[in-house]
Amino acid sequence: MVGRCMFLVFLFRMSLGAPTSQLILDLGYDYDNNTQWWPGMQKFDIFERTRIKNVYGIIPWFAVNTFKTAEHVGTHVDAPFHFDENGWKLGDIPLERFYSPGLLIDVSNEVKDNFDFEFEPRHIQSWEAKHGRIPNNTVVLIRFGWSKKHYSNHDDYYGINKTTTPLNFPAAAQVFVSRGVYGVGLDTPSLDPGKNAAFEAHNVLLRARIFGIENLNLASQQIPVKDFMLHVMPMKITEGTGAPARVMAFINSQENKGFPFLNIISQLWK
Ligand SMILES: *[C@@H]1O[C@H](CO)[C@@H](O)[C@H](O)[C@H]1NC(C)=O
Ligand SMILES: *[C@@H]1O[C@H](CO)[C@@H](O)[C@H](O)[C@H]1NC(C)=O
Ligand SMILES: *[C@@H]1O[C@H](CO)[C@@H](O)[C@H](O)[C@H]1NC(C)=O
Ligand SMILES: [Zn+2]
Repeated sequence: MVGRCMFLVFLFRMSLGAPTSQLILDLGYDYDNNTQWWPGMQKFDIFERTRIKNVYGIIPWFAVNTFKTAEHVGTHVDAPFHFDENGWKLGDIPLERFYSPGLLIDVSNEVKDNFDFEFEPRHIQSWEAKHGRIPNNTVVLIRFGWSKKHYSNHDDYYGINKTTTPLNFPAAAQVFVSRGVYGVGLDTPSLDPGKNAAFEAHNVLLRARIFGIENLNLASQQIPVKDFMLHVMPMKITEGTGAPARVMAFINSQENKGFPFLNIISQLWK
């Protein structure tokens, strides 16, 4: 009996003094020869590689690269100026918008491999029914399931010779505007479906000062539905219409939450 009491105290001490740990997830892709590029635009290209051994007999090794790229390659931010003549250029976007709470709307189970899938206001509404109204200072991530499935195949990823890629529609974009979010990011190449020649979602979001993040890697199942911080770090191209970006999710996980231990205790006590 005494032994059991000691054990109980020990468990409670562990649960009260619960350490928190932070998981950092990389939500971006590498910039290399395989980086996805918008058809017709400049690919990411390291076109000069200097490697010198034993420079002047005093420097053992010297290496430097020179690259050229379109702004909208791989994981990148779309700045409002991309579709709004008077909108913020990349260097104008206030910093706090790049360090803000994130949340995830996952429609990948519905998309499956349907290139004609449409993201609609009802998808936002069903998320909000479960998790509450989307707060105004967040960056919303949408998982279509495109990362793992298609990133390595340019034609499939862009829906070339398919009707479209499964994307955001203006009506849903309007809901994000009404929530006052800072940004919308997705695991597809564009805020708009390929068949939307007017780029309506781009227009609705960017003209409301909501930045976009395209080509995110949202394959990790460790991204929570909400309650994580998102760091979005585009290269500060002053005049940028967009820029390649590092995007990271910081997830606080409180280890040894009390409840599992209470369950164990109730088992022991039987
Ligand atoms: C990428 O492409 C360049 C130019 O074609 C080539 O020199 C380089 O070796 C490639 N890099 C890798 C890692 O394959
Ligand atoms: C965001 O929401 C907070 C809390 O509800 C409110 O105080 C603030 O005015 C809102 N900001 C904007 C820009 O709507
Ligand atoms: C895709 O469509 C383009 C024209 O839009 C055509 O030139 C090309 O051959 C097609 N590719 C395949 C694999 O069907
Ligand atoms: Zn873009």
